[in-house]
Amino acid sequence: MPTNQNSKKQTIDRKVSTTPQKGQDEGIPSGIQSREKRSSPKANRPKNERKSKPFEKSSSKHSPNEHEPRTRTTLDLLKLKGKRGIVGLTAYDALLGRLVSDAGVDFILVGDSVGTTLLGHPTTIPVTIQDMIHHTAAVRRANPDCLLVADLPFGEASLSFDRLLESARSLMQQGGADAVKIEGGRDVADDIEKLVLTGIPVLGHIGLLPQTVKAIGGYRKFGSEREEAESLYTDAIALEEAGCFALVAEMVEASVASELARQILPPLIGIGSGDGCDGQILVTPDLLGLSLGSIPSFVKPKLNLNQVISRALSEYVIDVKKRKKSLSS
Ligand code: KIV
Repeated sequence: MPTNQNSKKQTIDRKVSTTPQKGQDEGIPSGIQSREKRSSPKANRPKNERKSKPFEKSSSKHSPNEHEPRTRTTLDLLKLKGKRGIVGLTAYDALLGRLVSDAGVDFILVGDSVGTTLLGHPTTIPVTIQDMIHHTAAVRRANPDCLLVADLPFGEASLSFDRLLESARSLMQQGGADAVKIEGGRDVADDIEKLVLTGIPVLGHIGLLPQTVKAIGGYRKFGSEREEAESLYTDAIALEEAGCFALVAEMVEASVASELARQILPPLIGIGSGDGCDGQILVTPDLLGLSLGSIPSFVKPKLNLNQVISRALSEYVIDVKKRKKSLSS
C-alpha cells in the first residue's frame, strides 16, 4: 500500500544530513556521501516480465553484440546495473524504432520529445496522450527487440489518479508499451507506487523536467546548489521506494548524478548528467544531427543528417529541374 507522503519525506530528510563532513565534496549532501547502499530492495519491486510476447521478434541482424542476450524486461534492465553501461535512445516511428533496436539498445523511449523533434512544437507541452499512443504503436509495429517505454505527456499525472491510470493503461494496451515514464519526484511518488501495484512498470524522471519548462523559465542544470542536490536525492529515494524500475536523470550536476547512481538500487540513466550514471539516454535525432532547432551542448552528434539530407534533396531537385529544361529546349 502507498505510504504516507509526509512521513516518508521526514524519514528521508532525517537521513540527509547537511553538515559537511571532513573531505566531503561540496555540493553533495553528506547523507548521500556517507549513506551505505541499502541491502534490501523494496519488497514490492515490480516483477515485470512479460508472460507472453504478442509481437514478433526483430531479427536484430545488425546488433553489435549478437551473442549478448537482449534486454526485454524491466528485470533484465535492473540486472545490468553495475555490469555494463545501459543504453537507451528515443524513437517515434517504425523506421527509427527498427534502426534503434537493431543497433542493440537496451530500451527505446517514445519520448514526448516527439513534440519538438517531429511535430514542430516549441516545447513538449502540447503533446497529447493520443499523440503518444499513435507514435508508440508505430514503434511497436517495428517489433523492437528491447524494452519499449512510452512517456506520459504533460498534465496526465496531475489531474487524478484515475486519469493517470487510464492514460498509462492506454499507452500499454493501445500503444503496446512495456512501461511508462513519468516526470517528477516525491510529488508523484505515491501515484507511481499505486501504478506499480496495478502492474504498470514506471521509469522515473528527475532533474530537468521538460514538461515544467514554462514554470521554471527555461532549461538549466540541476543540483549545483546543496539544497537542490538534497532535493534530488529525496526525489530519487522516493521514486525508488515507489517501485520505479529505473530513473532518468536529466541535466543533473555530474558529481551529484554519479553519487545518486551509487546510492539507489534502480539504474540511473543520465542525459546531460555526466559519465557516472549507470547508463545514458539521448534523443536520437540529436545524436544524428537531424533537428530543426539547436542540439543540446552535451550531445556529440555522430552525423550531420540535416546536411546529408539537404544535399541529397537539393541535388535531386536540381537534377530534375535540369532535365525538364533540356526536354523543353
Ligand atoms: O522525451 C524525451 O525524449 C525524454 C528524454 C529526454 C529522456 O524525456
